[in-house]
Parts: sequence; C-alpha cells; structure tokens
Amino acid sequence: MNPFPLEPIEKASVDELRGLQLKRLQATLRHAYRNSPVYRRKFDEAGVHPDDCRSLADLAKFPFTTKQDLRDSYPFGMFAVPRAQCARIHASSGTTGKPTVVGYTLRDIDTWATVMARSIRASGAKPGDMVHVSYGYGLFTGGLGAHYGAEKLGLTVVPFGGGQTERQVQLMEDFRPDIIMVTPSYMLAIADEFERQGRDPRESSVRLGIFGAEPWTNDMRVAIEARMDIDAVDIYGLSEVMGPGVANECVETKDGPTIWEDHFYPEIIHPETGEPVADGEMGELVFTSLTKEALPIIRYRTRDLTRLLPGTARTMRRMEKITGRSDDMMIVRGVNVFPTQIEELILRRPELTAHYQCLLRRDGHMDELTVAVETRPGLSPDSLEARAAAELLRHEIKVYVGSSVEVALRPEGGVERSQGKAKRVLDLRHG
Ligand code: DLL
Repeated sequence: MNPFPLEPIEKASVDELRGLQLKRLQATLRHAYRNSPVYRRKFDEAGVHPDDCRSLADLAKFPFTTKQDLRDSYPFGMFAVPRAQCARIHASSGTTGKPTVVGYTLRDIDTWATVMARSIRASGAKPGDMVHVSYGYGLFTGGLGAHYGAEKLGLTVVPFGGGQTERQVQLMEDFRPDIIMVTPSYMLAIADEFERQGRDPRESSVRLGIFGAEPWTNDMRVAIEARMDIDAVDIYGLSEVMGPGVANECVETKDGPTIWEDHFYPEIIHPETGEPVADGEMGELVFTSLTKEALPIIRYRTRDLTRLLPGTARTMRRMEKITGRSDDMMIVRGVNVFPTQIEELILRRPELTAHYQCLLRRDGHMDELTVAVETRPGLSPDSLEARAAAELLRHEIKVYVGSSVEVALRPEGGVERSQGKAKRVLDLRHG
C-alpha cells in the first residue's frame, strides 16, 4: 500500500474530471473577464463572452495569451485581484527585455503547494523522507515551489538552492537526504563534484531525483539513474501557469508527466495556424488555469512542443516528455534541429559525456552548427579513440538528424557547467 494516499480526484473517472474542469473553466473565464481589464479587452476584441463557454471545446473560441501580453502589461497589469491581495510575486528573467511577472494569492500558494506535494508523492516520496532542494530560490519558481510542496507533504526540507557545489556535496554526505530536486544538468555537475571529492555518487543516500525546468531526454534519464543509482522522474511547469508541478511523472510508469488536469487544462495547437489538434498529435502545448485567483491564465502559449497521451498510472492525461521548445530550435541549412536530438546521440557514445553545448555561427549566408562536447574523464580529446567517437557522432547527426555539423571535443571542464538551467544553444551569429 502507498503510505501517502492519493487525493480522491486522482482516482476520479474521466467523466467526473471533465465535469469539474468545465465548472472551473467557466468560473475562471468569468473571473478573468470581470476582474482583469486586459482579458476583458481581449475577449471583447475577439467577440467572445464567458457565457459562450458551454463545453470544454468552446474554450477554442477564446483568444490566446502570450508572453508578450504579460510584458505589455508589466508588471501587474494582467492581475485579476488588487496587488495588495497578492501574497507572493515571482518573475522569470527571459533572455531579452523585461521579466515576466506573476502573482499569487494565499489560496494560489496553497493550490501550488498541493500540486507540488502531489508531484513529489507521484515521484515516489515516502513518509519521513528528507528532500534536498537545489533549484534556485528567489524570483525563480523552482526553489520555493519545491519547498512548499515538500513541506506540505510532511517531509523534511533542506533549502540549499543553486550553486556552491562543493558544499552541496558536503551537506548531502552529512545530512543524508533521500530525495534531490534539481535541474538534470546541475545534477550532472553535482555528480562530478562527488567524484572530484573522491566519493562514489552511487553510494550517496539519495534514492530519488525529481528533475525539470529544462528539456532532458530518456537517454539522459538512463545515464543519471546509472550514475547516481536512483530513480529519475520528470517534473514540468512554468511560472506563467504556476511554477513547477503543472505535471509530474509517476515513478511506477516513468512514461511522461501526468498533467494535474483538475487545475491546468491542456490543449495542443498547430503552432502556425493556432488550430487545436487531436490528442496524440504533436504541436504546441497551451494551458488554461482552472483555479488560479491572482493571475488566471487563459490559453497560454507555452512554446513547448509535445503531444497529449492517455492516462496510465492516473486517469488524467499525460504529456510526452518535452524534447523541443520552439525557442531552442536551430535551423541549420534548412533543417530543424533540437539540442535534445543531439543529446540522445551523444549519450550513446561511451567516450563522451553529457556535458555539451550547441554553438551557432554564421558563415556568409549559411548557419554553421558546432557541437562542443566533453570527452570522458581521463580520455584526451586528441586521442585516436576520442577522435573516432567524434567522427561517428558527426556521421550519426548527419544520418539521424539530417544536418552537417562540426564536433569539437573538449577536455573535462571544457564546457560551461550550469548551476540551474543549462544553456544548450549559444548563438554567436550576431556580434
Ligand atoms: O522552469 C518551473 C520549474 C522549476 C519546472 C523547477 C520544473 C522544475 P520557468 O522558468 O518559467 O519555470 O520556465 C518554464 O522551462 O516552458 C519549458 O520550456 C521548460 N521546462 C520546465 N520544465 C521542463 C521539463 C520553470 N520537465 C519553461 N522538461 C517551460 C522540459 C521544461 N522543459
């Protein structure tokens, strides 16, 4: 028996779930229209009114919300409650321009803690577990999101945050946490640090890792699980919709994050036409919040590419592990390339490590892609063995991804380490 019982809604029938979603969706549309001038204007311009939503399919009549809408109303213009009723503000930095600002009422914070507790439980947490949080604390939603969820579940939280890798390892050795919550790329840096200190990461106390905030492949899962001797599960979320805990993988199936559909209604749309596509088809993920107060979010375009899959461990639907974000897509000589496609091929080569970066340069009118990747510790990039591996990788990228790239081998430490989200694409085309 699972010592943490499921919430009743996790066991509800699909019909019961759809009924609840419709009721909550109608209330959210009314709340947004009534209390947020931005939504009122957008709905009026599109000629729709909350009363037009009589079924879940009617949601498609409503306009999308984009990052630009949030930027245009910076900082609090889209909020549907007075600022004084916000208990918390978070923001995501973005690469250019002003950050995207989001707000939470106390009830929103509680909802978020509930879905995070549910996520950590689905990941395989047990009563009495200690959780080491290495997601950054601060305006980023990772640290505080994980923190509140773990506390709500009744676990012991170590709020370490990002960085100070040497101390992270020391504390993990001393405190002996059962669970680590961190980006998959920073997990690798922590594993390296274990080894640098002469410790075997497989011998650490950690049994379970809850990894997200950036794309990572199933091959990366296998690599991390073997290196740390843990279960590795995927957690998905974004600040505009709530933060981490919008969807989370169930440890018993590890088959893509289950979307907590009683709070977040998913759609997949064709990224160019904006038309909804059927479950099972690839497209851009769009979310509508069903219970949020401070910042209801209607049809938010995430720019994440995936598809919806039927429920397995739960009745709620799953999303396929995200392998591409339209912002990360590189177009190399007319071919679309995602870093994760390259990651899969790198991880098949035992001579190479999972530390890699894609460098984009322009040569005349052509975009050139160089894949910088570190060789395994102790293997010189100049060795025959390493050079043969680089050549094989180059060949496989040509065959499986369809684009010609250069492979640049780097010695250990030659690729920048992340302490949070890894920067997989370095665009050197301008300046
Ligand atoms: O990254 C929230 C989060 C924190 C999720 C900790 C999981 C763990 P943002 O900074 O707003 O929020 O970035 C959201 O990160 O649209 C995806 O592109 C990407 N992302 C988040 N989780 C995953 C994941 C947090 N599991 C953006 N797989 C999203 C792939 C992910 N991409």
